[in-house]
Amino acid sequence: MAKRFIATEALGDEKKSEASLRPQLLKDYIGQAKVREVLKIYIEAAKARKESLDHVLFFGPPGLGKTTLAGVIANEMGVNLRTTAGPAIEKPGDMASILYKLNEGDVLFIDEIHRIPRQVEEFLYSAMEDFTMDVLIGQGASAVSKHFSLPRFTLVGATTRAGMLTAPLRDRFGVVSRLEFYSDEELKQIVLRSAGVLKVKIEEQGAMEIARRSRGTPRIANRFLKRVRDYAQVVGDGVITKEIADRALNLFEVDRYGLDDGDRRVLSAMIEKFQGGPVGLEAVAVTIGEDSGTLEEVYEPFLVQNGFVARTPRGRVVLPKAYRHLGLPEPELKTAE
Ligand code: ADE
Repeated sequence: MAKRFIATEALGDEKKSEASLRPQLLKDYIGQAKVREVLKIYIEAAKARKESLDHVLFFGPPGLGKTTLAGVIANEMGVNLRTTAGPAIEKPGDMASILYKLNEGDVLFIDEIHRIPRQVEEFLYSAMEDFTMDVLIGQGASAVSKHFSLPRFTLVGATTRAGMLTAPLRDRFGVVSRLEFYSDEELKQIVLRSAGVLKVKIEEQGAMEIARRSRGTPRIANRFLKRVRDYAQVVGDGVITKEIADRALNLFEVDRYGLDDGDRRVLSAMIEKFQGGPVGLEAVAVTIGEDSGTLEEVYEPFLVQNGFVARTPRGRVVLPKAYRHLGLPEPELKTAE
């Protein structure tokens, strides 16, 4: 029987309620069919051989299930999950003390793994490959290096920026999986499942309306579900219908494509300040007062995937769909220079 381990103690309220909606096992996980299929095979094979699972790297935009899948892997393998994040590990010693506490087979989840310092990354190589580590004990001239054997653990890394990982680190993961945006139908199933967990009354059409406006992202769908539930409770009779979901999401300024105020600011800035592009990422970021990493990882993937923006060798360009959606006149076709 798998241990059900969810590290909720150290989490804030928002994270805690997100954790409560997470599926614990692969059979309850909706969407990411390819990733599920691959994981199912690797998990079954590792369990049959009574071995730990190979290290796994997940990459893709935020909110698509990287943390959830780390928990699912631990539960399916029947081991503990230890969770940390790249920015929290400042030096090799921090990493060593985390590794030292692991038990045989444990899953160590490192979120934002692209943010671990280079020295820590290099320290991880032998831990990942041979399950050993060399730790410097003491300081200055009297420091001695001590060799430790580690239990066979599984490192699950998550990153929104696979391109920022060095090749030596990436190559040490046996499984590398890209998470995709979810279809409306998959998100609808997730919303219905979450509504069941939260004991919220919802009609199928209501779930579909939330799904359609959630940017292909379960984290957003679940967040909207809770806000629409509040609206239904206060304004309606507690049941989430299509109309209630529509009115609530309009009130929260989420439009029919799921674009929110942040997305619309990106598009408006590109159109009004840069005539729709081509424009560099950095220039747009400065204009809207966002960090360029956030723009690239959080806003851009959805806008590109849904045909609002294109990446070209000369920069980002706003596409006709965005003009139509914002009710702005489409520019004349630019002639080649
Ligand atoms: N809650 C959040 N993500 C989910 C998923 N992929 N499947 C089921 N429930 C979820």
